[in-house]
Amino acid sequence: MTIHFNAFDMLVPVHQSPGLWRHPESRIDQFDQLEYWTGLSQTLERAGFSSLFLADVPGVYDVYGSSHHSAARGGVQYPLLDLQVLVPALAAATTHLGFGLTASVTYEQPYLLARRFATLDHLTQGRVAWNVVTSYQDSAARNLGMQGQIPHDERYDRADEFMEVMYKLFEHSIDDDAVIADKESGVFTDPEKVRGIEHESTWFSVPGPMLTHPGPQRTPLLFQAGSSARGQTFAVDHGEAIFVINARPEKLAQQVESTRAQLTDAGRDSSSVIFSAMVTIIVADTEAEAHARFQEYAAYVDTEAALTLFGGWTGVDLSDLHEDDDVADVQTEANQSALAMFTKDPSRRWTVREVAEFISIGGRGPTIIGDPVQVVDQLLEYQRISGVDGFNISAAVRPADFERFEQFVTPELRRRGLLPERPETPLTLRESLLGAGPHLAQDHPARRLARADARGPRADERAGPA
Ligand SMILES: Cc1cc2nc3c(=O)[nH]c(=O)nc-3n(C[C@H](O)[C@H](O)[C@H](O)COP(=O)(O)O)c2cc1C
Repeated sequence: MTIHFNAFDMLVPVHQSPGLWRHPESRIDQFDQLEYWTGLSQTLERAGFSSLFLADVPGVYDVYGSSHHSAARGGVQYPLLDLQVLVPALAAATTHLGFGLTASVTYEQPYLLARRFATLDHLTQGRVAWNVVTSYQDSAARNLGMQGQIPHDERYDRADEFMEVMYKLFEHSIDDDAVIADKESGVFTDPEKVRGIEHESTWFSVPGPMLTHPGPQRTPLLFQAGSSARGQTFAVDHGEAIFVINARPEKLAQQVESTRAQLTDAGRDSSSVIFSAMVTIIVADTEAEAHARFQEYAAYVDTEAALTLFGGWTGVDLSDLHEDDDVADVQTEANQSALAMFTKDPSRRWTVREVAEFISIGGRGPTIIGDPVQVVDQLLEYQRISGVDGFNISAAVRPADFERFEQFVTPELRRRGLLPERPETPLTLRESLLGAGPHLAQDHPARRLARADARGPRADERAGPA
């Protein structure tokens, strides 16, 4: 058995651990320097990570106190650089590492986003994944031509159609052998092998054809991270790697089991879809040193910044409450699973202070503390209980915690044979993470589109691609 690891990060001063950018070892004030990210990518590649998974949001966290002040002051996912621009430089600095890229179907246009992902798939030789999100911020909606957010479930309905357009563009518009660049005949791209997609439905009208030829994976590997009931249905319909967060592995087990059952009901091989859980690791040579390090981290907690993060995720402003007040459940059009973790917890009520303290180190995920052997034991135990296939590692002090992973955790994982071997020739991300072929599996719902297409599948599909 092997375990895959992704590094979960974001082009911001504070991703998941508010306040920790002030730690003396933090170098995240260099987050706007290319060398910071190329160096981190090389660390991750040496450490055996499968991918660098980058979160992204299209708006400012301005729910707390109804203003952007606390986000700006605390560096809470602000300032935020554009991740798509960075990826080619990271690909040039690495050989095997994949890149999981978040892009919002609520605010992007499918026609241009398909070209951008195909471009990145070409330039990275198939090392990109798309983390498909529907977003949760009113501030994004207001800055992108809307009065406010599309309601939560409707965002997912619209996202289904967005995906349909993307599949048509990635999978059906241009054959594999369309680009021939034949100097003798003077034909660069065979026009017979390029066709329109003629998509016309509720939200999108895209006649096509696709702007560029498909990359090595055609559709990039699809990550999915919405955990509400509607989000899980979306995962079943589209996801190939599902990203989950829960501090309690037994709670996560219910979600993993129920999603796997829904995958089976939908006619998909549930074992071919992988689940990755977010975890933050604090590791040192000895158990005592690791716990001392955790205590040291706790000194940098920034409560206001933590509540700013919470407000952004959930749409709930706790700025008027006392720290000892309970956090009550409300209906939200933002991230429902993030709110439910605290307000629908059957084992306890959460006060404002407890929520802030909890998310200050490692966001909504668990924090694993110990020496290298204990850390790997705890990862295995979390995996056994929850049923996940791998982990998204979040760093509290950046990049130090990733460097410490390489220093302490990687050797222990290798000693136990838990890290996947890498072939000399780099694989596409779909191949390395799923152990499958470079293209969408035959039982992926996107394939049904080809069968339903009146014009039939692409010529190269009839031959039966991998
Ligand atoms: C673990 C996790 C990670 C997420 N990462 C992002 C992200 O980087 N950017 C973003 O806009 N939404 C992100 N989301 C939001 C969701 O994918 C989703 O589109 C939205 O929050 C609604 O989620 P829900 O189905 O859990 O209510 C994330 C959600 C979860 C649960």
